[in-house]
Amino acid sequence: MTTPIHNCLINKKTSTTPVWFMRQAGRYLPEFKKIRKNNLNFIKLCLNYKLSHEITLQPLKRFNLSAAIIFSDILMTPHGLGQKVVFKKNFGPKLKPLNLYNISNTNVDEFSKKLDPIYKSIKNVKKNPLIKNKDLIGFVGAPWTLLVYMINQSSPKKGLKKNFFKDDNLIKEILKILEKFLKIHIKNQIKNGATIIQIFDSWAGLLKEKELERYVYQPTLNLVNYTRSLRTPVICFPRNIKNYKKFCEIVKPDAISIDYNVNPKLIEKKIQIPVQGGLDPKILLLDKEKLKKEALKYLNIFKDHPYIFNLGHGVLPETDPNMVDYLVKIVENY
Ligand code: CP3
Repeated sequence: MTTPIHNCLINKKTSTTPVWFMRQAGRYLPEFKKIRKNNLNFIKLCLNYKLSHEITLQPLKRFNLSAAIIFSDILMTPHGLGQKVVFKKNFGPKLKPLNLYNISNTNVDEFSKKLDPIYKSIKNVKKNPLIKNKDLIGFVGAPWTLLVYMINQSSPKKGLKKNFFKDDNLIKEILKILEKFLKIHIKNQIKNGATIIQIFDSWAGLLKEKELERYVYQPTLNLVNYTRSLRTPVICFPRNIKNYKKFCEIVKPDAISIDYNVNPKLIEKKIQIPVQGGLDPKILLLDKEKLKKEALKYLNIFKDHPYIFNLGHGVLPETDPNMVDYLVKIVENY
């Protein structure tokens, strides 16, 4: 039996619109906050396979979603490479300075062993009846976005560090190491039961057009080809890039996840492959009427296009779970 999302990605059929949300497991859910309160170390929480299993399934217990996404973080890769990551309250991630020597000497088995609780969690989620006929989405950060965190040491909300691009050799080395270990991380997730891989390139929008080739297109293409060689579909989310069409032509993912700054009508017209997402997560903070209107806008635009309903970025912490429930029902009844 094919799952609704596989049907959309592979058979390009849209009889029902599959739906899941980025950050569907997270801080807007009281049951997550309860666990989080007693687990202040976020990395440790991601590596607690029992709790990560429970958190992954929390949204599926509430809403009729087409997929679970494993509860983890894109920054588990730098953690696995030995660059220390901490999450500071009201600040976000903070990384220790990069030590190229340490990272270069990371051993493959050591890396897989460090991240093993994630794989164990995937394996256990996969056995749960809640995931029957649904997809289990594994994910990685794209090389560019991980490079950003590793060199910048925190979210580049106010831009990249002044000397970010100064050491070209360092950048080259890190990209090489990331390619190798991201492939391992992808393979391990698939081996343990992930049925789709999503590549998050949250900071792709920071680059100029001529820089995309080196930092985004080529490194992502390598991961897409690799994932496909493992017979697993890939969804790419190069957030805020100007030219999604060009990205799709070069990288050729199975689906493209769009942000909320692009015009969905133009995307529908220009892009031939399945599309995911788009709805601004802030709409969930308004009232039901506005939410319905915006959701129907996306559903109508993509009614004859293979489309996976999702947001243009993650669910915001202030979101009322009832609004998420309402949204899922709108998609379901469309
Ligand atoms: O439900 C899911 O989507 C699965 C789990 C998931 C998390 N992070 C859990 C998380 C996924 C897919 C991610 C991806 C991720 N992590 C991205 C790419 C998507 C995006 O948002 O652009 C990025 C850039 C990160 C790095 C990261 N992790 C940041 C910047 C932060 C802090 C700020 C924030 O937005 O929350 C995190 C922490 C994080 N990752 C939380 C969760 C549930 C919140 C942790 C908390 O409880 O404080």
